Amino acid sequence: MDRPELCTEEEIIKLVYGFYDKVRADTLLGPVFNSHIDDWDKHLKIMVKFWSSLLLGTGSYSGTPMPKHIALPDLHANMFKHWLALFHETTSALPNRMLAERAEEYAQRIAQSLWYGYQINNNPNRIPSGLANG
Ligand code: HEM
Repeated sequence: MDRPELCTEEEIIKLVYGFYDKVRADTLLGPVFNSHIDDWDKHLKIMVKFWSSLLLGTGSYSGTPMPKHIALPDLHANMFKHWLALFHETTSALPNRMLAERAEEYAQRIAQSLWYGYQINNNPNRIPSGLANG
């Protein structure tokens, strides 16, 4: 479903590029991303498609994020929480509050589901933990 009234593609580009500027400069997450992503230009274009598909219903993203994250070594809950904190920092600065809210909702849900999938695949004998409260 197209929802062109929520925001423009330009606003999504700003959100994505602003967020990954923070990620790349971050001492916890920067090294994880930088050691797996050779071509940032390509990654950012994929991420714009991903967020455009979610927020505008463009259908432009056709990847599979779960296996890509499951394959990353040594991810921890604190990394997903920190990812969300940086994302929140980015959305907080957006003048388009409706866009900020929708993006935030999706980020929370997807981070949670990626973290569950990660734990179930990489630590199948442990009960998976959520991301809320410590
Ligand atoms: C600890 C948190 C996270 C880390 C360290 C992380 C790291 C990465 C890395 C290194 C890649 C590139 C993988 C590759 O190309 O092989 C990637 C791709 C991606 N990530 Fe994450 N990520 C995190 C959380 C999230 C969250 C919360 C979302 C969504 C809200 C997300 C969405 C994506 C998407 C859509 C891709 C592109 C997959 C594709 O190539 O189609 N990530 N991530």
